[in-house]
Amino acid sequence: MIFVENLVKTFPAAGGAGEVSALRGIDLQIAEGEIFGIVGPSGSGKSTLLRCLNLLEQPTSGRIALRGDDLSQLAGASLRGARRRIGTVFQQFNLLHARTVRANVEFPLELAGLDRVQRRARADELIALVGLTGKEKAFPSQLSGGQQQRVGIARALASEPDVLLCDEATSALDPDTTDQVLDLLVELNRTLGVTVVLITHELGVLRRICTAAARLEDGRVAETGRILDLVADPGSALGAAIVPVGDDPSGGDRADTALVTTIGAEAHGPWLAQLVRTLDADVAVVGGRVEQVAGVTVGRLRLRFGPDVDRAAVDAFVAAQPNVTLAWGADIEIEGLLE
Ligand SMILES: Nc1ncnc2c1ncn2[C@@H]1O[C@H](COP(=O)(O)OP(=O)(O)OP(=O)(O)O)[C@@H](O)[C@H]1O
Ligand SMILES: [Mg+2]
Repeated sequence: MIFVENLVKTFPAAGGAGEVSALRGIDLQIAEGEIFGIVGPSGSGKSTLLRCLNLLEQPTSGRIALRGDDLSQLAGASLRGARRRIGTVFQQFNLLHARTVRANVEFPLELAGLDRVQRRARADELIALVGLTGKEKAFPSQLSGGQQQRVGIARALASEPDVLLCDEATSALDPDTTDQVLDLLVELNRTLGVTVVLITHELGVLRRICTAAARLEDGRVAETGRILDLVADPGSALGAAIVPVGDDPSGGDRADTALVTTIGAEAHGPWLAQLVRTLDADVAVVGGRVEQVAGVTVGRLRLRFGPDVDRAAVDAFVAAQPNVTLAWGADIEIEGLLE
């Protein structure tokens, strides 16, 4: 649904000398109905990418298509029309403080030319959708952070956008409130079918709600994919960070260790006992973790086998198990991945 091709954004450097390359050729595909997480260290280009997607920033070169319509070439009325297909939720809410909740949500409807009666009906519908019925006449300063962000979300949905973009929408909120706002985004994604693209620096957000993700590094896409595919891939740094297994505390030889990932019910299944029995293998569990990822149980184990292990037999055994993958010696540096 969103198709980004070789997107480049260059800014003049502060002080006037030279240029800053914020995006150095981004290629990205975001499917309809996805909750897509964008992560990466500070300065890697996440906000710039989002500002190109919502047309607040003009790309230096490259292409952005939304449902097949090229957004990079628009101007005037067609640019304003395209902007209505994309809603944005901001970290600091960006509400108008002299206006009530209802008047904040009505604001984009005024710009779209709806009359007073239509505006009010639509605004109250949106306020109900985000769970704020009864707060129509409150001012932003009378609301909690989580309630203010709900107003921000209602306002972003006013023009019935195809996509909801969120730049660190929960990072000003405490953990409980964050979870409630994330649950609201999931609910809106399910009920309205709106595609959600969110920037986050929290792995917990990725784990809890995202169905796919991209990791940026220095203005480029370092890796992207569906969350469960990233987690099942022993070469994925993002997958390793989402379900971190820890190092072998004994510091044993990497060559004898295997990283096993199980997706779904297999996390609780008897495959390990069967492997030991079938192959008469000596094996120690030297690391492990179970997490809920995108609503699915994911297990990860680091196993150390005895030196005379028959690797081909282990590989064959694992290949016959559904939803279990194994990689020998896999070890990825995930420190500082997102900072
Ligand atoms: N308007 C601008 N003018 C000049 N340079 C900019 C501008 N906006 C962003 N940059 C630069 O582009 C690079 C990417 O910035 P961006 O804000 O997209 O990073 P980010 O990944 O969102 O970081 P953070 O996690 O800190 O929010 C940085 O080097 C930044 O200084
Ligand atoms: Mg940013």
